[in-house]
Amino acid sequence: MAFIVKKKIHGKEYYYLNENKRVDGKVKTKTIAYLGKTKKQAEKKAKEIIKRLDGSKEIMDKKEEKIDEQTKKDVKSEPEPQKISIENLATFCKRKGFVYQSGEIYGGYAGFWDFGHLGVEIKNNIKKEWWKSHVTEREDVVGIDGSIITHPQVWEASGHVDSFSDLIFVCKKCKKPGKVDRDELGKAKCEFCGGDYDESTAKEFKLMFETRVGENSKSYLRPETAQLIFINFKSVYENARLKLPCGIAQIGKVFRNEIAPRDFLFRSREFEQMEIEYFINPRKSSCPYKIPNIEILFYSEEMQKKGKEPEKMKIIEALKKGVIKKDWHAYWLATEFLWFKNLGANPGNFRLRQHKKDELAHYSTDCWDLEYHFPFGWKELEGIADRGDYDLLQHEKFSGKDLKIFDEEIKEKILPHIVCEPSLGVERAFLVFMLDSYFYDKERKNIILKMNPKLTPIKAAVFPIVKINQKIVEISRAVYEELKKEFEVIYDVGGSVGRRYSRNDEIGTPFCITIDEESLKKDDITIRDRNTKKQVRVKISELKNILGKLIKGEIEFEKSGEFFN
Ligand code: GAP
Repeated sequence: MAFIVKKKIHGKEYYYLNENKRVDGKVKTKTIAYLGKTKKQAEKKAKEIIKRLDGSKEIMDKKEEKIDEQTKKDVKSEPEPQKISIENLATFCKRKGFVYQSGEIYGGYAGFWDFGHLGVEIKNNIKKEWWKSHVTEREDVVGIDGSIITHPQVWEASGHVDSFSDLIFVCKKCKKPGKVDRDELGKAKCEFCGGDYDESTAKEFKLMFETRVGENSKSYLRPETAQLIFINFKSVYENARLKLPCGIAQIGKVFRNEIAPRDFLFRSREFEQMEIEYFINPRKSSCPYKIPNIEILFYSEEMQKKGKEPEKMKIIEALKKGVIKKDWHAYWLATEFLWFKNLGANPGNFRLRQHKKDELAHYSTDCWDLEYHFPFGWKELEGIADRGDYDLLQHEKFSGKDLKIFDEEIKEKILPHIVCEPSLGVERAFLVFMLDSYFYDKERKNIILKMNPKLTPIKAAVFPIVKINQKIVEISRAVYEELKKEFEVIYDVGGSVGRRYSRNDEIGTPFCITIDEESLKKDDITIRDRNTKKQVRVKISELKNILGKLIKGEIEFEKSGEFFN
């Protein structure tokens, strides 16, 4: 139940809408909104907010019941074994032209990868979908595109120059150097041959790539996009007329001199990050957004320490039980998991793991990883850290500039806290969508990449059923030319129709459009669905509109035209 409270700050009165909630058996008060300076104004605003909250709660509850029913089925206690090894996925990606080893004609260059046409299309689609849901569709997040090389003092302030390093040891058996996580000291085995590390070879290995700017000035390639957000925070906040709580997002290249790049794209030396730094006023810290009601495997610090197995739990329940400390953390963890799920990733392959105290990064007070069950085990897919006021304080100290902003509501200058930093590598997301899409169909005897059409590199392949009928070829070319204005489509005349279908199944093309004898009489075409092989006939005049809806998932395939299977 929500209620109005009056607070006196520096002698002035302010009204707030508060709510009592039971957490872990204790009643806790949470501020929902600021209501103004007069009682009348406050009562009017409170009525509006309560009405809005009740309405949206009803709609959200209905939607979430559905989501929850589905995740209950999808999230198993044990994930299924992956259908392909990481080495075979790398081979498949090379064979079909998704990703190549960089510098291959010179023997390859470890930790660097080049994306071919199909690969870059998927990568761009992942970034487009991320930007759409994290920036375009949100009122509280804006974007920036910072430089890759910036003032070297940024990296001294951030702590990277001193602390961004790995501990490396040389293996007694294979003599290769390997990185050892600090919490694994004394226990870790060589990641190449399983041998013991030679303790006397321990050495700090700096991960930042150094470069020279101009004649002789030492600088660095950025190892994360985050710092560019912190150093621009005040200008962006003021120019974009943001209000706390709010976020700034960025997608861009980062560079890390990894000692042992491995597992295809998983650990590389050059990759892209999609990051949000989410800022709050620490005095009004509760999250106003509804936490998506979904279930996932949890692996908290306590479970790890006590040797317990991960436990299936609703994210909201984990917050109530105190497994997750802050509602903001619960909100962002659920939002990020839902993003993958909505784009077709298998929820059964995800879990949330909390960092143990001794593995927390130097800037972080709490951190949860969204982990994925890769073919080589559970590994970090996305880090979601609470960075507190570490970064802005450091930049204030090193630059001598005041980075505080004026909070209109409490009429005071404050230094915001970064309550959450969802930080995701584009290439790791690429691996997830490839792995969860990859199927071998015994009946068709070929691979089918069952990827969400929003992410597939090619949206449709257009082919004439026969190549010798001039009229059919003409219509096919015209259909192709028209669709190409809006979608990534290909025109395919190579080999039999069956061969053309299987070639497109392998690269994930969700729809194949064929033009046949009937098309000449009826001005229509056939669309074939990749996953089911079902077909519908659609008028050429309606094709562009229907294809658009099919890609966005706005209509069911069987209802998109005259179904004839
Ligand atoms: N700003 C916070 C930060 O950079 P991080 O955990 O070091 O945190 C964030 O990196 C994400 O970047 C990871 O969750 C992962 O998706 C990706 N990432 C990190 N190192 C990577 C590497 N060597 N190769 C590919 N992706 C990497």
